[in-house]
Amino acid sequence: MFDANDIFDSYASDAEVTRFVSWRPYKDKSEVAPFLQLRLARWDSGEEYSWAITRSQEDRVIGMIACRVRDHAADIGYVLSRNYWNRGYIIEAAKAIVDWASRLEFIYRVWAVCDVENKASARVLEKVGMQREGILRRYIVHPNVSPEPRDCFVYSKIR
Ligand SMILES: CC(C)(COP(=O)(O)OP(=O)(O)OC[C@H]1O[C@@H](n2cnc3c(N)ncnc32)[C@H](O)[C@@H]1OP(=O)(O)O)[C@@H](O)C(=O)NCCC(=O)NCCS
Repeated sequence: MFDANDIFDSYASDAEVTRFVSWRPYKDKSEVAPFLQLRLARWDSGEEYSWAITRSQEDRVIGMIACRVRDHAADIGYVLSRNYWNRGYIIEAAKAIVDWASRLEFIYRVWAVCDVENKASARVLEKVGMQREGILRRYIVHPNVSPEPRDCFVYSKIR
């Protein structure tokens, strides 16, 4: 319950943080528990692994990073409270997850997409060692920007 409160307060209800994600900012704390239950179910099924991000010595969720596994590929996504942007936390977290996924014997491709206007996220993906493959045109709806599907950069690291 404490985690749900932190998630709601620190980023899930923030319209700026959620600008380039596929979901609307939460309006009520009660929306967080079903979201967390889904994360746990997907962890158990091996479909997707999600980790809460905390600062050392502080038991408070300030962000989340997830890795979805499909056959020989794993894709990552992340979100961080605006209060902690530009401190390198996501680069640190994403490096750890990309390294972890890359070491799995059956994974040959670790990848991610980001909106072509999401400059911070594109920079993060470059800094974790991914290469930009190109643009997936009209790939995903980011409803907080537009109801129409948006162009996204696709990045990957392969072996
Ligand atoms: C994407 C996000 C996680 C990045 O968090 P962050 O705390 O800024 O990340 P870091 O500090 O670890 O690294 C950001 C890098 O991007 C750069 N950056 C940040 N904002 C930028 C901008 N507007 N234009 C260009 N570069 C930018 C930073 O300078 C840094 O690069 P550097 O280390 O070379 O200086 C954060 O902005 C966020 O939560 N955004 C909302 C959710 C989101 O968009 N998630 C990704 C969906 S694909």
